[in-house]
Amino acid sequence: MPKSWLQEHKRDYYYKKAKEENYRSRAAYKLFQAVKKYHFIRKNYVVVDLGAAPGGWIQAARKLVGKKGFVLGVDVRDIEPFPEQNVKTLTADIRDEDIVEQILDNIPRKADAVISDVSPNISGVWEVDHARQIDLAQQSLRIAINVLKPHGNFFVKVFQGDMLRDFVEKVKRCFIVVRVIKPKASRAKSSEMFVLGLNFNHQR
Ligand SMILES: C[S@@+](CC[C@H](N)C(=O)[O-])C[C@H]1O[C@@H](n2cnc3c(N)ncnc32)[C@H](O)[C@@H]1O
Repeated sequence: MPKSWLQEHKRDYYYKKAKEENYRSRAAYKLFQAVKKYHFIRKNYVVVDLGAAPGGWIQAARKLVGKKGFVLGVDVRDIEPFPEQNVKTLTADIRDEDIVEQILDNIPRKADAVISDVSPNISGVWEVDHARQIDLAQQSLRIAINVLKPHGNFFVKVFQGDMLRDFVEKVKRCFIVVRVIKPKASRAKSSEMFVLGLNFNHQR
């Protein structure tokens, strides 16, 4: 990693804050900020977190759902286990054919929210990264459609680009309210955005 990048990263406000507050990643603050504004995770919710390693969003989601909620984190990489009884992790690829069954087998009831911070390895070729990210976002949407209960919520990372509009249209077919947002903790320089779908309409 270039030294300049590393220095900038270390100076980063949210990076430091995450270290101080024992979050596994600065990404936790993106989730806290988006939930504070749109309330898509509440106490007692069952949350499925896709692309969850190292676990910053899992920690944030666990804090939001409390002791009686439940959080399942899924990643191709192993996630260091959490001590809380109501947090589970699953090592799996979200593109696996049986991923929906694997998830349903590991949650106590259908999910109230599916959140996805899944990211491909960045190639540096903008079109390639955009296409890969949209592909993973579509996989996340497919999973959400199958594991969410009616009126559930969906929050997924995307990169800006020409395929984003089509993806947002797909989300609009399944959720009553759809927003494209960028939390403050998301670096201004990055093309990362999040698509939020509220109120899953399973009959659409
Ligand atoms: C930006 S990181 C997630 C950070 C996490 N939200 C946090 O707060 O700690 C993106 C993750 O997506 C995972 N990922 C990429 N492709 C995946 C796939 N096909 N299936 C499951 N996880 C995947 C990566 O392994 C990586 O851990």
